[in-house]
Amino acid sequence: MERKELIEKFIKFFEKKNHKKVPNASLIPENDPTVLFTTAGMHPLVPYLLGQSHPQGKRLVGIQRCVRTGDIDSVGDNVHHTFFEMLGNWSLGDYFKEDSIRWSFEFLTEVLGLDKNKLAVSVFSGNKDAPRDNESAKIWKSIGFSDDKIVFLEDNWWGPAGQTGPCGPDTEIFYWTGEEIPEKFDPSDKRWVEIWNNVFMEYVKRKDGSLELSPQKNVDTGMGLERTLAVMKGTYDNYKTDSWEKIIREIERISGKEYEGHEKSMRIIADHIKAAVFMINDGVFPGKSEREYVLRRLIRRAVRFGRKIGIKNFTQAVAVPVFEIYDDYRFDREKIMHELKKEESLFLERIEKGMRVFEKFADSEKIDGKTAFLLYQSYGFPIELTLEVAKERGLEVDREGFLEEQKKHQEISRTATAGKFKSGLADESEATTRLHTATHLLLAALNRVLEKPPGLKEIEQRGSNITAERARFDFTFDRKLTDKEIQKIEEMVNGWIREGSDVERKEMTLEEARKFGASGIFEEKYKQIGKISVYVIGDGKISKEICSGPHVKSLKELQGYRFKIAKQKSVGAGVRRVKVVLEKLA
Ligand code: SER
Repeated sequence: MERKELIEKFIKFFEKKNHKKVPNASLIPENDPTVLFTTAGMHPLVPYLLGQSHPQGKRLVGIQRCVRTGDIDSVGDNVHHTFFEMLGNWSLGDYFKEDSIRWSFEFLTEVLGLDKNKLAVSVFSGNKDAPRDNESAKIWKSIGFSDDKIVFLEDNWWGPAGQTGPCGPDTEIFYWTGEEIPEKFDPSDKRWVEIWNNVFMEYVKRKDGSLELSPQKNVDTGMGLERTLAVMKGTYDNYKTDSWEKIIREIERISGKEYEGHEKSMRIIADHIKAAVFMINDGVFPGKSEREYVLRRLIRRAVRFGRKIGIKNFTQAVAVPVFEIYDDYRFDREKIMHELKKEESLFLERIEKGMRVFEKFADSEKIDGKTAFLLYQSYGFPIELTLEVAKERGLEVDREGFLEEQKKHQEISRTATAGKFKSGLADESEATTRLHTATHLLLAALNRVLEKPPGLKEIEQRGSNITAERARFDFTFDRKLTDKEIQKIEEMVNGWIREGSDVERKEMTLEEARKFGASGIFEEKYKQIGKISVYVIGDGKISKEICSGPHVKSLKELQGYRFKIAKQKSVGAGVRRVKVVLEKLA
């Protein structure tokens, strides 16, 4: 079976069971500030898993692009990827364990025709915080699973993805990919491949680490598309399915080498460039902070493994089959090609400079720890690259010395950033939420203070990027803001914060939102959804803006902070960017 056919079958199956298809969301999470990337289909649904009503109803189905960087060092084996697609079905306070399990079984055996004797499951064993999930085990038994094919594990718990949020026990479905089917299911045997995870989200984890019963019982399932394709094809290697084959062929072509014998390098190149293509497409650029750094690391790691199979300047060529395989996505090819080339060239340049450092050691036997660290810090050489080059030149590397240097350096930078991270991720997510609301106030104030450029009725948002420290906000305006204007905008926003009005969320159709006078980006995706959220501040007197959140409930939550425009610059014709911060008042 091919990728597109599996997606279609899955969606249809659940649509017949009254599920509605949700859009495939960006890799940059809009609705969940607790994570860097969308790592599962549930992220775009977080507000709805927590009780907000979803405009498309209580039964949802979808395909979601995901990036998981926690597994980066496992990439290179047969089943781990940084980028993958996840099929999922969700119940928002509607059906629960019984239907969820039965439908998974029905889909796998009747629609996909998988052999039920090759299926096995794991179920939550219980721990001090939550009880054993006997109910799920009972359902599996009633379908015909023997005790030998059900194991209880404490690990069968999913979430929250960040530090807080929805979570609960899960039941994982495995498929046997080896030869003779064993009598007993042993989850540590790698030939049992996990293909589907059904999470029963009955809990919400709070900031203090405690579990609370969730306001509604949800189901969140995730089926790994690549893995399922592989087991259906009877191969143990995901890279031999149509989600990958073309990319591998292209790497074989460029290198003149065969996949067999070079699996690890080729898998890493294919995986990392695919992930990079999707990340750039969703608006990430290689750089030094957070997401940007992850992207940089992926491209550089691909380049490094390219070196191992004797290729360079290949990232653009490898991106082409990615566009072809995923022709159901829309790609900004020019932007992607430009960024890949730029980053690859930059890294190759660094490598060349780093090589000159090696030249100095031509007559020595060993690279000392300080030099290895210099290569790492100033030339972007990961230690693995230093070890590789050293080996090629018959040099040893003082690894211990390198680690010592690294530790020394980390201590220095830890002291420097201790203040920043003291408060932890949970606080970060609150800070992000406050800044989300602050950008609505900013847009409202821009429209009141600035004279609109000719031909423009309104100043419109062109983009925003929010971290716990600051919000970056792009809007349509054709010149520099004067100091006076900035001062006025700041005073207006800080005045609103002092008044402390409520922030309300209203649901309406796109048409109703237009009539209601809501501003915001009237995106295509909202049309598919049907209903959208409009955030209304101060009964609509301050702002009415289409947005999926998250937002504070009242501007009182911003009291204790001073809104400030920290920087401004032009980012192209007619678009200005400002950086805003909420400074904590003493
Ligand atoms: N959130 C669960 C997972 O990622 C199910 O989708 O496995």
